Amino acid sequence: MDSNKNESSSHNDHYTLYPDLSQVIKELRNAKRVAILTGAGISTESGIPTFRDGLDGFWSQFDPLELASPQGFAADPARVTRWYDERRAAIAKCQPNPGHIALAKLEQIVSPNKNLFTLVTQNIDRLHQLAGSKNVVELHGSIWEWRCTKTGKQKEYRGGPFEQYPPPSDNGGILRPSVVWFGEPLPPDAWRTAENACTICDVMLSIGTSAAVYPAAGLIDIAQSNGATTIEINPEQTQATPRIDLQLRGAAGVILPIVVDHLSRS
Ligand code: OAD
Repeated sequence: MDSNKNESSSHNDHYTLYPDLSQVIKELRNAKRVAILTGAGISTESGIPTFRDGLDGFWSQFDPLELASPQGFAADPARVTRWYDERRAAIAKCQPNPGHIALAKLEQIVSPNKNLFTLVTQNIDRLHQLAGSKNVVELHGSIWEWRCTKTGKQKEYRGGPFEQYPPPSDNGGILRPSVVWFGEPLPPDAWRTAENACTICDVMLSIGTSAAVYPAAGLIDIAQSNGATTIEINPEQTQATPRIDLQLRGAAGVILPIVVDHLSRS
């Protein structure tokens, strides 16, 4: 069988594997504005465990609330900053995976001038930016940014592990990661941008998120209530699945390159 036939058969397989694929391609082709919501699932193929699976080994003895909350930090700032610094060191070794790279390509296909494609992420690893995505909104902050608890002065820390926990700031206070902890408000500008993007989009893709944490998960309902077509990419069902219009059931690193490949063929 010559390669064209091979290719066309694999293309047809895609439509068999993912029954909603042809409708997804049609929606993206006609979309004027696209909003994307990503969660930890899009980074698993880069070797970063999802938030809930991430508590392994020594850290499995702790409840996430003890490690990702203002109360947990107040009770033991050394433990919390050590946990985040170990995650920062682990993430430093990770690279964007085909899912991140496909999303950066999708932005260029859908809206080269950027402002009609908004990628809202709950992730704190910045792999989307590393993959080339331009218009990224970080709802939960970034593990690379740390700030002084006294002055709020924030700085990027890309170096090796801190020498002590909690790490001292350069003006007598201590540093905390600039990530959103349970019970803390989202950065107002980030939320406003995300909410607006999901209000005016024609198509919204929810990728690699359990849609369990609000207000982020509420962006799906905002898009839907404004008439957007909603699409979910996830190997599992999620809390949003019953409300979502189209499903691509599988890994983001497998499915997104297929979507981009089909879109790139006119
Ligand atoms: P979760 O760990 O709650 O959910 C991860 C989702 O990714 C699950 O639905 C998995 O099925 C899915 N998944 C796993 N592998 C995947 C793959 N290869 N491709 C696509 N999907 C895959 O992570 P989040 O939904 O991101 O917030 O959690 C949201 C927030 O909960 C986090 O940002 C964090 C946590 O509380 C704060 O810390 C404030």
